Amino acid sequence: MKFLKSSRAIQAIVAVGATYLLSIAFFGKTGALWPIIRAPGSLRENRSRISDKSLGSIHNETLGFEHVYAIGLPERTDKRDFLSLAAAISDIKLEWLDGVKADAISQKAMPNGYDQESTISTFMASWRAHMNALLRVLDNSYSTALILEDDVDWDITLKQQLVEFARGLHSLQNTEKVSSSAPYGTHWDILWIGSCLSAPNQNETRFYAIPQDPTVASTRQRQGAAGIPGIWEDRFPEDSTRYVYSAETICCTFGYAVTRKGAEKIIAALSVSHIETPIDNALSDLCAGEDGRRRIDCYSTSPGLIGTYKTSGSSSRDSDINSSENGDYHEEHSWNMVYGVKRNIHRLAAGDDTVQSQWQDEDREPWQQEEIHPREFKYPEGVLVEI
Ligand SMILES: *[C@@H]1O[C@H](CO)[C@@H](O)[C@H](O)[C@H]1NC(C)=O
Ligand SMILES: *[C@@H]1O[C@H](CO)[C@@H](O)[C@H](O)[C@H]1NC(C)=O
Ligand SMILES: *[C@@H]1O[C@H](CO)[C@@H](O)[C@H](O)[C@H]1NC(C)=O
Ligand SMILES: *[C@@H]1O[C@H](CO)[C@@H](O)[C@H](O)[C@H]1NC(C)=O
Repeated sequence: MKFLKSSRAIQAIVAVGATYLLSIAFFGKTGALWPIIRAPGSLRENRSRISDKSLGSIHNETLGFEHVYAIGLPERTDKRDFLSLAAAISDIKLEWLDGVKADAISQKAMPNGYDQESTISTFMASWRAHMNALLRVLDNSYSTALILEDDVDWDITLKQQLVEFARGLHSLQNTEKVSSSAPYGTHWDILWIGSCLSAPNQNETRFYAIPQDPTVASTRQRQGAAGIPGIWEDRFPEDSTRYVYSAETICCTFGYAVTRKGAEKIIAALSVSHIETPIDNALSDLCAGEDGRRRIDCYSTSPGLIGTYKTSGSSSRDSDINSSENGDYHEEHSWNMVYGVKRNIHRLAAGDDTVQSQWQDEDREPWQQEEIHPREFKYPEGVLVEI
């Protein structure tokens, strides 16, 4: 799988099947994706005292959120079939929301800032679909909801990963007590758990690190990886550590959760107010308080817990947003997923006890196993790190 071993260069993030950004402005703005923070002393570490019990509902059918939506065009039955099957096998209940086509949008309905003369792009169709999903969150008065795009994949260990993600979130927020009816709490606007890359503020000093994570793809295996604060290289090498942090720069809306308050803020900013960039860039601007935006609270993890999946074949079938794919052949791949559900679908459907890593033999890293027994798998514990 030579093609999966593409360099860690951020430029490798091409042809994302979902909303996607990679503008010069983005890199101009952020410089290095992870800051190199010079620590005055040593790192301070702290373990979370949040009990497993209060996070128990993360193992339920909606992953501890109140609802899970998946957005997809109705005619992409191929993607619907596969995602619905992957969800059923993972014991996740999702509700489909129809994607939107550009020609279904009225010019007059475009928010301010959008060039009224230009033809409506598929990127704006994606914006509309995400706005519709957020409106559904408000209509149903959900306190939290997870929104997925139709070509995503996740690790078979997702529920365990999310428990530790929640622990990281609470550690960063100094949560004293977690209610079992809101395992992630509601003091945030977006939990951006599925992105192609994300980064904190350059001056961020608090991270939750999950070292030696067998579900972490190394930077050589990874697509769209961010860099790591150099100071931690020894204790928490980026290659094998998953990081959770307050995020400011994020791209790709593979999967993100919102609170009700978050949904309100996003609709106010990106529909009532203005949007001039693809939805993920616009959301990222909100997370950073850039572009004259009022800042919202976003948390993320690197590498992401929800990735994008592409079946083998012509790239022209991949995306419903970017219609200019050149149609080149590619192998099956699942971004950054070590034990991805979709690549293991035949084993899982047959009821096999084990799943296989996407990377075998010399492509495998020491902290990953060739195969795992999901039922016996124990996800590692993280630690709060402060500089
Ligand atoms: C760890 O957390 C506890 C409780 O929040 C705090 O009292 C203690 O100072 C922290 N220790 C370090 C090393 O940060
Ligand atoms: C899962 O747990 C969350 C949080 O407790 C809850 O809001 C949601 O309704 C639960 N989902 C299901 C399917 O029971
Ligand atoms: C980081 O801190 C420095 C010094 O306070 C400040 O000048 C800079 O703007 C900060 N960077 C960001 C991205 O906030
Ligand atoms: C769409 O896909 C083509 C071909 O892979 C790529 O060159 C182009 O940058 C993509 N455009 C956007 C806006 O993502």
